[in-house]
Amino acid sequence: MRERLVGIGLLLLVTINSQAQMLNPITPAPVTYESLKATGVAIQSSTILYYPASFAVQANYMQQQIEQQTGIRLQLSAGSPSKTLPRIILQTDEKSITRPEMYHISAAGKQVIITANDIRGFVNATQTLLQLLPNKKSATATIPAVAITDYPQFSYRGMHLDVVRHIFPVSYVKKYIDYLAFHKFNTFHWHLTDDQGWRFEVKSYPKLNSVGSWRDSTLIGHFKDVPARYERKTYGGFYTRNEIREVIAYAAVRGITIIPELDIPGHSRATIAAYPEFSTKPDTTWNVASTWGMYNRQNNVLAPNEASFQFLRDIFTELAELFPSTYIHIGGDECSMLWWKQDPNTQAFMKSKNLPSEKALETYFIEYVAKHLKQLHKKSVGWHEIAEGDLDTTTLIMNWSDDKQALAVAKKGFEIIQTPGKPFYFDHYQSKDPNDSLAIHGYNPVENVYKYQVVPDAVKAAGLAHKIIGAQANVWTEYMAFPTKVDYMVFPRMTALSENLWSQQKDYPDFLRRLEEEMIPRYKSWNSSYFQGYKVWTRDK
Ligand code: ACM
Repeated sequence: MRERLVGIGLLLLVTINSQAQMLNPITPAPVTYESLKATGVAIQSSTILYYPASFAVQANYMQQQIEQQTGIRLQLSAGSPSKTLPRIILQTDEKSITRPEMYHISAAGKQVIITANDIRGFVNATQTLLQLLPNKKSATATIPAVAITDYPQFSYRGMHLDVVRHIFPVSYVKKYIDYLAFHKFNTFHWHLTDDQGWRFEVKSYPKLNSVGSWRDSTLIGHFKDVPARYERKTYGGFYTRNEIREVIAYAAVRGITIIPELDIPGHSRATIAAYPEFSTKPDTTWNVASTWGMYNRQNNVLAPNEASFQFLRDIFTELAELFPSTYIHIGGDECSMLWWKQDPNTQAFMKSKNLPSEKALETYFIEYVAKHLKQLHKKSVGWHEIAEGDLDTTTLIMNWSDDKQALAVAKKGFEIIQTPGKPFYFDHYQSKDPNDSLAIHGYNPVENVYKYQVVPDAVKAAGLAHKIIGAQANVWTEYMAFPTKVDYMVFPRMTALSENLWSQQKDYPDFLRRLEEEMIPRYKSWNSSYFQGYKVWTRDK
């Protein structure tokens, strides 16, 4: 409620106390948020959380999250709700819940009713509930009287993490997944292999771990610095299969799908360091890369020989067996043609298969793996370069280039996940402060992340908007050696991205208000080293 006081030539907007409750506190902003004229629902440890048996896991998750935040451990009951008040009821309803991930919350007087039909609906409702509750411990807490209806704008909302350039503990990977769940993302893209290391435990090719997971040194400073300096210390590691299973299970409770990436046929330096026979120069002793920005500079491609193809079949089978996700990411980016051009055996292979160019060979690799995955009942996703050849359009494309590229890929018939370098690469600077912590060149301030149009006008005009199923931000970790630096680079940009992808209605000033009032205190309670200059470094600077 607003009262207007007209002073002497002065129009003053006065906020009365109750108004704070009336403004939406939730990020990403829900589709509808209605503050009801009723008392809120006071909960305490005797309050019962009723749930349908099929969503026991999500009810447990909700109980645990509420306890973690408020200290109040609700009672759980799978039975039908008794008359005991106050109560929270989780329920399903085919009529009012009309889309995936949708939920409805109504809270007033003595009960909260949460309606959803799928895991993500209840997980999303949990995040909203957490933001309705005070972010502090107490014996009782009040959920304000509200009616909320909410569902996402895009079906794919992802965050990527490169654990190759730097590897992070399982505990941080889980924390990162918690960040995703809180922001109502539904996909974690786990970049597990690259030139600088191999990061998951493999049964069939043990040298991928004993050799490929370790580099003998790591670049210090920016990769353009001259002369290059190195820390001469063994660096690396990998996630065991049990750790990976643990992370998958953790994500599943939170409704997060993990898409693992095994990047081929380029970005394979760690692979050929372990198994030189898969390279175009089998007699060479390759090292695992210790520098960044390998593209076109050093040989890192797989050779098209029987050993390589056998390897690809085996390794993608292992990956597909480990990860339950429908999609497997097969990379396909920045594949230098140089090494294939120079190699007589590769040229002979191309001739034997009628492949007119190295580009066609790249497509051959990608199609080879995509077909194999199809036999394993999986689908493929790859970086946009794979769409340059003549690829089957069932493969999902991640466009890391610009709007023109998105249009070209959509015109070829592919579905697209938008992850444009500008502004969705969170390894780029978020300020122009010369003293800012080291990052990749380029300026991607939070405002650009918030305002980027995921479906470009040109794609809309071509009638191809439906080809864009969503977007994600990529977090390449060359200059992020520790979790604290990852947090610094992703917050508040991840929060801005979540609203860009989730909410139909965007309002940057209102986002900034919620960021300041609601999210910054959250970052602090997560002990997160977020970037603080987000108001200074805007689109115009
Ligand atoms: C990429 O940034 N090479 C996908």
